Amino acid sequence: MFSVRVAFLCIFCFNIFVISKVHGSYKFNSLACEVMAPELGKMKLCEIKAIDRKHNMINLSAFLNKTISEVEIHFKMVKRERGGWHPFFYDIRIDVCQFFKNRRGFFISNLIYSFIKPYTNVNHTCPYMEGTEMRLWNWSPDEDAVLAKFPVDHGTYGLQTTWYVKKEAALKVNGSVIFFR
Ligand SMILES: *[C@@H]1O[C@H](CO)[C@@H](O)[C@H](O)[C@H]1NC(C)=O
Ligand SMILES: *[C@@H]1O[C@H](CO)[C@@H](O)[C@H](O)[C@H]1NC(C)=O
Ligand SMILES: *[C@@H]1O[C@H](CO)[C@@H](O)[C@H](O)[C@H]1NC(C)=O
Ligand SMILES: *[C@@H]1O[C@H](CO)[C@@H](O)[C@H](O)[C@H]1NC(C)=O
Repeated sequence: MFSVRVAFLCIFCFNIFVISKVHGSYKFNSLACEVMAPELGKMKLCEIKAIDRKHNMINLSAFLNKTISEVEIHFKMVKRERGGWHPFFYDIRIDVCQFFKNRRGFFISNLIYSFIKPYTNVNHTCPYMEGTEMRLWNWSPDEDAVLAKFPVDHGTYGLQTTWYVKKEAALKVNGSVIFFR
C-alpha cells in the first residue's frame, strides 16, 4: 500500500517538474523466464531481438496446457546501483482478472499496461484458455512516450515479475533495460 502511494506522488512530481521534453533512448539488456508450474504450460519464446544497433525488442510467448481463471502478478521495479538491484518505486501485486474488469481502478498498472497493449493478446479478463498462447510480440514501446511517463535518470532498471495461478507461483519473468541519453 505504501509503495503504491509513493508511486502516485512521483507520477505527479514527474509531470510537474519535467518541463522540457525528455530525450533519450532505451535498450533491453536482459530477459529471463522460469516456469515453476510445468503442468500449466511452457514458454515458447523468451528472447530479446535486435532491431538495429541502438534498438531491440522483446518476444515472449507461453503456451497454456490448462485453462487459467485465477491469475495474479507481482511486479517489482528495481534499479541497478552499487553492484546490486534496489527497489525503485513500484512493488505491486495485482489480480489480473480484476484488472481487466476495471482497468481504471488500477492507476499505475494501467499506465504500464498502456505500453504493452498494442503488442499482446492478453487484453481481456479471465479465463485464458487451454491450448492457446499468451503473447507479447515484438515489444518495442515508443521511446518518447516511455520517457514522458517515466523520465528516469540514465541507468539500468529491472522489472521482476512473478505470476501466480491459484496463489501458487507459476512463472517468473525478469527483464532489464538501460536508459541512456
Ligand atoms: C528474478 O529476480 C529475482 C530477484 O533477484 C530472483 O530471485 C529470480 O531467481 C529471478 N528469476 C529469473 C528467472 O531470473
Ligand atoms: C517474435 O515471435 C513471433 C512468433 O514466433 C514471430 O512471428 C516474430 O517474427 C518474432 N519477432 C521477431 C523480431 O523475431
Ligand atoms: C486483443 O488482442 C487480439 C490479438 O492481438 C486482437 O485481435 C483484439 O482485437 C484485441 N482486443 C482488444 C479489446 O484490444
Ligand atoms: C497438456 O499436456 C499433456 C501431457 O503432456 C498432453 O497430453 C496434452 O495434450 C496437453 N494439452 C494441450 C492443450 O496441449
